[in-house]
Amino acid sequence: MTAPALGPVAALDLTDAEFRHVGQLVTRIAGIQLPPGKESLVRSRLAKRLRALGIATVREYLEFVERDTSRAELAELVDVLTTNKTSFFREAEHFRLLERTILPALARAGGPINVWSAGCSTGEEPYTIAMVARESLGAAASRVRVLATDISARVLQRARSAEYDTALLEDVPVALRPAHFEAVPSSTGTVRVASPTRDLVHFARLNLMGDWPMKGPFDVIFCRNVMIYFDKPTQERLVSRYAALLAPGGYLLVGHSESLSGLRHALSYVQPATYRK
Ligand SMILES: C[S@@+](CC[C@H](N)C(=O)[O-])C[C@H]1O[C@@H](n2cnc3c(N)ncnc32)[C@H](O)[C@@H]1O
Repeated sequence: MTAPALGPVAALDLTDAEFRHVGQLVTRIAGIQLPPGKESLVRSRLAKRLRALGIATVREYLEFVERDTSRAELAELVDVLTTNKTSFFREAEHFRLLERTILPALARAGGPINVWSAGCSTGEEPYTIAMVARESLGAAASRVRVLATDISARVLQRARSAEYDTALLEDVPVALRPAHFEAVPSSTGTVRVASPTRDLVHFARLNLMGDWPMKGPFDVIFCRNVMIYFDKPTQERLVSRYAALLAPGGYLLVGHSESLSGLRHALSYVQPATYRK
């Protein structure tokens, strides 16, 4: 596209009706709620997209979205409005539990070990799972398969590249770095998750609100800092779909600000943000 046609990002006008319209679209497609208070976030994210398209007003943009029968722009709209904050070893208690308790027990039981990172963003969560699996199980980590899914094509592209600025490694224990990261020759300050850690992770695009092609069962499902954007009925439906896909004794790990209390579900509470079938 040509040079940006708009002025400063903050200058984009967004009426209340347009804000509600955008909110309805992303809720319908992705379950994501945009409650009052999110106007400035929506305004700044839309401004970037409108600039990229050379479109001047939100009204014209929404008409463009409606006209686009391929629905590609609707996917772009959802993509720009998702929040993708993540980090390696985020909410580290889950990784201690995985390393010390969950994975050793699964290894003793024998057979493949299936883990799903649902809402994996740029990949730090599934690659942390893979690092922990190799640290915990050694050669037996080859039995682990980590499925990592997200609705956003943009974050999945970054996740698949497995390349990270070294500044993002601050929560990766220093002793683990040589085994799991390699230098990227063409780029100083960037490292890549090394094989075989990288090879344990398989990325796929998946909207949690849609059909799920995988049959499971999963031994562990990470769905952390994703449900926080959904309303309660949507969270309840999602948790019951996760429960159906878990193996008996399997774990559902949610974000530490996302307790399941207040939701009807059939899982047992283990410890904060940790549930078991
Ligand atoms: C804040 S990030 C959380 C990343 C990681 N799980 C963590 O805790 O660090 C939330 C992710 O959920 C994804 N997401 C939001 N709605 C989704 C949906 N309906 N289906 C699939 N992924 C979704 C977003 O694209 C985003 O990458």
